[in-house]
Amino acid sequence: MDKETLKFIVLADLHIVPEGELSNSLDTNARLIQSIEFINKNHDDADFVIFAGDLADNGEIESYHRLKKTCKLLKLRKYFTLGNHDIRQNFLKVFNQTITMNNGNLDHSIDTKNHKVLIIDSSHPPYKDPGLIEDSQLSWIKKELNEANDKPVIVVLHHNFVYSHVKAGNMILENNVEFSELLMHSNCEIRQVISGHIHMTTSGYFKGLPFTTFSGSHYNIEPTLNYIDGRIKPPVPRREGPGQIAVVISDKESTVIHMENFIDRHLTMAQELFGKWTKH
Ligand SMILES: [Fe+2]
Repeated sequence: MDKETLKFIVLADLHIVPEGELSNSLDTNARLIQSIEFINKNHDDADFVIFAGDLADNGEIESYHRLKKTCKLLKLRKYFTLGNHDIRQNFLKVFNQTITMNNGNLDHSIDTKNHKVLIIDSSHPPYKDPGLIEDSQLSWIKKELNEANDKPVIVVLHHNFVYSHVKAGNMILENNVEFSELLMHSNCEIRQVISGHIHMTTSGYFKGLPFTTFSGSHYNIEPTLNYIDGRIKPPVPRREGPGQIAVVISDKESTVIHMENFIDRHLTMAQELFGKWTKH
């Protein structure tokens, strides 16, 4: 990659569990190792890697220790933020050496190669499914955008902020309108808002903003878009693949996101593995 071009990787929805356990039948730590091997092999020229939430499946300390150990295999610089499956104080107990924080949240602002990348922590105690950007974070985002000058801005957070027309697609960022309007009215060139959370690959547009979601490392939700009597047909089929990363390449004029599958199997998983109500 040339010196002018920014390249970074986003991982999300790792759902790491303690040693010896599986998550909905999947060995999520093995999947993380596969993604890291894929990155080391194909993208060692990237500037950094963002881990965009749902790092642990149930926020256990043991899972964060396991994550930290596995992440040592990744040679690139790492940034972490959280999702609805995480528990902040447990993450901090394990990772407190490597993070910068904004009002207790795992927010980061990266100024590099004539870009500003904002990583925003949308997790919100008590870690229910919808996300929230707190008032202090909104103020911080506003300040960062004011300081961006002419630099293009790329935003990464766990939660998507647009209803995606699928079952469970309504578990979005609670203050999505406030958040979006802050970005839209900033006079900054917001190139992309990138999220995980819904375990699906989508792209679209909301309130003047281009957005992208990607499948991440856990199971993938099949987008069942056929409605019956005005309701989305249950159950939601889940597939063990793809395991997917987002590769972001950005320069003066353009930002392109490649969705790359480090696992390309698409077998349907048994519904019984998910119980009555399933987070994702
Ligand atoms: Fe997730």
